[in-house]
Amino acid sequence: QSREMEQLLQAHEWSSKLYHFLLKNTEHGKPAMDYLKSRGFSDKAIDTFQIGFAPARWDTLVQFLEKRSFDLESMEKGGLLSPKQDGSGFVDRFRDRVIFPLHNRNGKVIAFAGRILGEGGPKYLNSPESKLFSKSRTLYNLHQAKTEIRKSRQIVLFEGYGDVISAWESGVHNGVATMGTALTEGHASMMRGLADEIIVCYDGDQAGQAAALKSIPILENVGFVIKVALLSEGMDPDEFIQKYGGERFKHQVLDGAVSSVKFRLIYLKKNHILLEEGGKVAYIKDAMGVIAPLPSPTEREIYLKELSADLQVSFDSLKQECNEFRMAMQKKEPLGDNNDKRWNNGRHKK
Ligand code: GTP
Ligand code: MN
Ligand code: MN
Ligand code: MN
Ligand code: MN
Repeated sequence: QSREMEQLLQAHEWSSKLYHFLLKNTEHGKPAMDYLKSRGFSDKAIDTFQIGFAPARWDTLVQFLEKRSFDLESMEKGGLLSPKQDGSGFVDRFRDRVIFPLHNRNGKVIAFAGRILGEGGPKYLNSPESKLFSKSRTLYNLHQAKTEIRKSRQIVLFEGYGDVISAWESGVHNGVATMGTALTEGHASMMRGLADEIIVCYDGDQAGQAAALKSIPILENVGFVIKVALLSEGMDPDEFIQKYGGERFKHQVLDGAVSSVKFRLIYLKKNHILLEEGGKVAYIKDAMGVIAPLPSPTEREIYLKELSADLQVSFDSLKQECNEFRMAMQKKEPLGDNNDKRWNNGRHKK
């Protein structure tokens, strides 16, 4: 490990401690503390997640790092500082923001996410990609969650930092989140190394549900057993927990998570008006796209039966529909269990 990396790690570690101290012990930090309290974050959560505050000044970190003889240019490369407009030095990158430190899986601080207090934008400001920090390889809270994940062989994937924190406060200690970017293959295989089952618990709004849909093939590819949590009223997990409490979150949302097939059917169903015959027919066609390729005949039967009861259409005609769909597929590309990535335990090679 190069000396520059060591310095950058050290600077992140100390900056994180400084931000945390400023939040908890200074007058500057009070509005941020009030904000966090208004969101329902406890002192324990603030400590556990080392949440901090970057004051509304240009040189809090510049002064702090300079005093400790850090090379400011490499601190800028590492994302802690920004160059001044006129090129004559540096200013703090994070100002007047709540600071969420981002750790690597060994628990070292490698970046920060700064949230604006209240409304306005950009809502979050992240550290840039650096030698230390790659968004596509980082999962929020993995360093703390990995013990519980290994033990339970289960992981809960969230969209946001606040979701992870509120879930943790409810006793869900196997939660992680991406950095607001799409889930990558790298994230998926990293998680698969620790767990067999994943619960995708994204926001209940349109964007979150669409992101959950997109995550399914990526997670299937590494051989996860996938469940998807459904959130009502467009809420995110954090909002749900603040409104209804952690117990209800665990028992209703997490325990009630559905299979990826079921989730895809629910998702497709929303596009159709089932009171109209045409809507029913169109939904059945879409649904066959999900059910027909399933390699297991019993699995197909289970979903066809559900569909039959749900739509008041006979099982026999749905089964026939399904068989025709499979025949059409077979013409394009032979089906078979060997082609299904879920059955070779994540060791699928491209
Ligand atoms: P809160 O309002 O603090 O509860 O945020 P949230 O986590 O609910 O945010 P949202 O659902 O809007 O977005 C999910 C995640 O996307 C966030 O946790 C961030 O990681 C990321 N994100 C959201 N807004 C921004 C933004 O303006 N800039 C960047 N870089 N990331 C963002
Ligand atoms: Mn503390
Ligand atoms: Mn969201
Ligand atoms: Mn959200
Ligand atoms: Mn939120």
